[in-house]
Amino acid sequence: MKIERVPTGVPGFDELIGGGFPKGSSTIVSGIPGCAKTTFAMQFIANGALRFNDKSIFITVEKDLNSLDRTFSQFGYNIRELHKTGRLGVIDLEIKPEMGEDFLDQIISPKFLSKVREFGASRIAIDPLNLVLQFSGDFGGERRGVQRLINAYSGMGCTMLLTYERLRQREDLEYEAADFVVDGIIYLQLIKSMGSFGERSFFERRLSILKMRETDHAQGLYRFRIEDDGIHVYSDILLRARK
Ligand SMILES: Nc1ncnc2c1ncn2[C@@H]1O[C@H](COP(=O)(O)OP(=O)(O)O)[C@@H](O)[C@H]1O
Ligand SMILES: [Mg+2]
Repeated sequence: MKIERVPTGVPGFDELIGGGFPKGSSTIVSGIPGCAKTTFAMQFIANGALRFNDKSIFITVEKDLNSLDRTFSQFGYNIRELHKTGRLGVIDLEIKPEMGEDFLDQIISPKFLSKVREFGASRIAIDPLNLVLQFSGDFGGERRGVQRLINAYSGMGCTMLLTYERLRQREDLEYEAADFVVDGIIYLQLIKSMGSFGERSFFERRLSILKMRETDHAQGLYRFRIEDDGIHVYSDILLRARK
């Protein structure tokens, strides 16, 4: 059976995963602060709405429509316009732990899911997933919570991209419960490079695909940059060859 692919539209990335994420799959984009998780997630969502005729929803814990619009206007995306024309939804889950709000319960409630269905969304991003889980009382723990979330959305045919904040960057990523449940893991890193003689050291961005079910994905550690229109992945520069 041929697997339907959902392209991210991030230049240089889709060819690493056979054209795009498997439709209905869920992928974690993981890394430390500033590694470009939110940027990647928004490119997936905005490109879906702009170029692939997919309605998309960006669920955020810490940003509202105004700040997303301002941030992504620098890359040429008009989030407000996409929002106004009904192609891109922004759900801003406010942080109000004192009110006992359960974010996970909120976004998998039948009422919320029927709104998503009504909107016609086929791409969902949650930024960041760990904050949603942190403000959730799911008694079965994180793993069960993520499983419930994934079941709800993949059941509707939605392809999900979930960002996940890491406190530390390690050569070997320390995995969380969520990593075992999702279909894919993309790891973004900031790696210190030594300049050649006389130059200072600097940080370079790297992307690797640690897991992508149903996909013969690329195995390298690839350089990427944030350019005028967002993330570009340079897969021609393979830093660690396939064994
Ligand atoms: N216009 C730009 N050009 C190049 N890099 C940028 C630009 N705007 C932001 N950045 C980089 O993107 C980083 C923030 O990316 P973001 O996606 O918010 O990271 P994360 O969500 O992983 O914390 C900034 O720290 C900065 O290095
Ligand atoms: Mg972020």
